[in-house]
Amino acid sequence: MLLCGLPGAGKTTLAKRLVQELSAVRLCPDEWLAGMGLDLFDNEARERVERCLWQHAQALLAAGAVVILENGFWERTERDEKRLLARAAGAAVELHHLQVPIEELERRIALRNDEPGSAVLTAELLRSCHDQFEPPTQGELDLFDAPLFDDRS
Ligand SMILES: Nc1ncnc2c1ncn2[C@@H]1O[C@H](COP(=O)(O)OP(=O)(O)OP(=O)(O)O)[C@@H](O)[C@H]1O
Ligand SMILES: [Mg+2]
Repeated sequence: MLLCGLPGAGKTTLAKRLVQELSAVRLCPDEWLAGMGLDLFDNEARERVERCLWQHAQALLAAGAVVILENGFWERTERDEKRLLARAAGAAVELHHLQVPIEELERRIALRNDEPGSAVLTAELLRSCHDQFEPPTQGELDLFDAPLFDDRS
């Protein structure tokens, strides 16, 4: 299952709920980067961690687990790649787009920035993420499998 959305969209919050509801395994690159003492804004380190987690996801899928990837998946090419590879390995693949207006993202990130120990994301950087984000179209969403859960709740 791919969770697609900008910082603050609620990917981690939803994923934690689904871990309970679906007995799924959640793989969150941010947490692994932080756990290894790496900088969340080091893109090279992020790519390496995401590659490792993808290897791990494939092993978990092969063992029959439901796997949730929280990478954000801003680009269509990343989503296409994961869909095709997971399908080729025999897994169903869902894409969930957490769509939240930029003003609400700004509000949530400002609150999170104030929490002690949180990695601060500036409003400028959030805007630039927003500009880079390629939202999935209905045509793209239709290429994925039907959801195992009701994502309106
Ligand atoms: N549906 C929601 N309504 C209101 N606030 C929410 C909702 N979902 C998450 N939040 C709040 O927004 C903040 C960001 O949520 P969360 O950490 O789940 O986002 P994220 O998509 O994982 O962000 P990031 O990409 O930065 O990891 C948290 O403080 C969370 O409590
Ligand atoms: Mg998160």
